[in-house]
Amino acid sequence: MNKLFIAFILAAVPLFGFAAGGGAHLDDADIDMGDEASLQRGAKYFVNYCLSCHSAQYQRYNRTAKDLGLTEEEVKQNLMFTTDKIGETMTIAMSPEDGERWFGVAPPDLSVIARARGVDWLYTYLRSFYIDESRPFGVNNVVFPDVGMPHVFWELQGMQKAVFKDDGGNKVFEKFEQVTPGSMSTSEFDQAMRDLTAFLSYIGEPIQMERKRLGVWVLLFIAVFFGLAYMLKKEYWKDVH
Ligand code: HEC
Repeated sequence: MNKLFIAFILAAVPLFGFAAGGGAHLDDADIDMGDEASLQRGAKYFVNYCLSCHSAQYQRYNRTAKDLGLTEEEVKQNLMFTTDKIGETMTIAMSPEDGERWFGVAPPDLSVIARARGVDWLYTYLRSFYIDESRPFGVNNVVFPDVGMPHVFWELQGMQKAVFKDDGGNKVFEKFEQVTPGSMSTSEFDQAMRDLTAFLSYIGEPIQMERKRLGVWVLLFIAVFFGLAYMLKKEYWKDVH
């Protein structure tokens, strides 16, 4: 018994380690994958603010239209550059070599970033750029120290500085202080980043909304089938006893 218990603890250790990893505190993204309007706004933020540097090379425009409840015409008008075709994937013109030359690191494809990093990490990352004059773009990030990405939402969020406290020689993040205002309030900006995170989660697993919708029917079917099977069983056994 004891041995079994120890074996269980040992097997679970990597899990605990993973959960604790990352260092900085992450905020709860609290995304709602059933909220079509939120996903549509997220798609708009993605194409306007990210798609110049990051691709989503496994995501097709027409698939996006279908899943997000938009017509192909709406997608063409709002989410696409005129040179792209509706059946194409979300690629970018910048080559990885240029990306590396301009930013030091080529911006990675974001198709599966929500699965690699998790939605809480993304939501926190997008809201955690702060002024740091020692960095090439004048900003740093609390959850991704020395990141090579500029603060693309500076107009919406404004600029903030980070306050760190000294914890026995370690710099520990404490809070942000707003330095210049953005065009959005904090809660508006949080919602915008929630929308964008939901969209990134969607492209990481485009079938997920369908899967959840189907799941309800599967459970209903099992419940009905159980009832029928039980009645049949009673019928079969009624003369045996
Ligand atoms: C001007 C170019 C540029 C734009 C625009 C941009 N990024 Fe980035 N991004 C980068 C670069 C360069 C990196 C690589 C940073 C590094 O590894 O240091 C990066 C890294 C990231 C990462 C971290 C990837 C990892 O390694 O885990 C995420 C997430 C990300 N970007 C999301 C976004 C989102 C979402 C948007 C749109 C709101 C966006 N980026 C807009 C250049 C850009």
